[in-house]
Amino acid sequence: MHAKTGGIIPEEAARQQVKSIIPVVSEALNKAKIDHTELDAIAVTYGPGLIGSLLVGIETAKTLADVWKKPIIPVNHLIAHMYANFISENSKLPLFPALALVVSGGHTDLVLMKTHGKIEWIGGTLDDAAGEAFDKTARLLGLPYPGGPSISKSAEEFITKNPDTPLKLFPRPLIGEKGFNWSFSGLKTAVNRYITSKDKVSKEQIAAEVQEAIVDVLVKKTLKAIDRYHPRSILLAGGVAANGRLRTKFQNELKNSETKLFIPEPKLCTDNGAVIASCAFFNREEVYWEKITANPELTISDQ
Ligand code: KG4
Ligand code: ZN
Repeated sequence: MHAKTGGIIPEEAARQQVKSIIPVVSEALNKAKIDHTELDAIAVTYGPGLIGSLLVGIETAKTLADVWKKPIIPVNHLIAHMYANFISENSKLPLFPALALVVSGGHTDLVLMKTHGKIEWIGGTLDDAAGEAFDKTARLLGLPYPGGPSISKSAEEFITKNPDTPLKLFPRPLIGEKGFNWSFSGLKTAVNRYITSKDKVSKEQIAAEVQEAIVDVLVKKTLKAIDRYHPRSILLAGGVAANGRLRTKFQNELKNSETKLFIPEPKLCTDNGAVIASCAFFNREEVYWEKITANPELTISDQ
């Protein structure tokens, strides 16, 4: 639906969610082979995000909580992304302190997690998010939405054919800056210049260059933060953490490190309900359903 319009139209998204949310809840219960009486609580995102979408989720959760007589656990969507790393079948959970890189369509944050519920923001983007940079440059290149997977696919085609070409066309803003911040908005202008110039650079090469510029600064700043904070674990999270190049670079860089790298499987990186449940499981703060309200502007430091 979003691919057809080249991006998310907030009202359309909320309308579709109204139609789908009850069938999705029923299907989830059916697939898990459980009855709603077996649920402990209902976890729901209360922010950040698009107000229409947040309201659909919250109002549905409130209604189900009242009808099924369950407590509600409000969840911060950004913190929930980090909890993809706590869904483990072999019980190898991250050790604290953990450093988390949360890279999604709307946010790019580096946070220190001292323990459950104790999160300190140490850096983030000053303008566009990493996912947004993928989405916007993909649009300039005429590649379908969401931009991350399409840039990645196009980039892989180039890299497979040209494994030795150095990918250094685009600038790495703030790379020498003291702190742990990023800036991605200049990438659009840089890409536009190449598209409209007479220089013969293929679409696939531009995609590979965009991906490399984004991945390179994400990895370098995170490694710098590891040197500064010495965390026991590093957690990747959010839609951009599904990116193959980002995953490989982190794996290579931290191969011999004492800091253990956690990367969720790709389907748990992009938005999903399992991470909301995981976050609620480890931060079980139940509220009465009347007490919960949507907060589109919630930040990762808000518990
Ligand atoms: O976390 P997410 O699913 O939703 C938000 O909370 O925003 O992240 C969506 C973002 C989009 O910008 C999308 O382009 C990006 O994640 N994304 C990727 C990949 N898969 C999704 N970016 C780079 N490479 C990917 N493979
Ligand atoms: Zn998300």
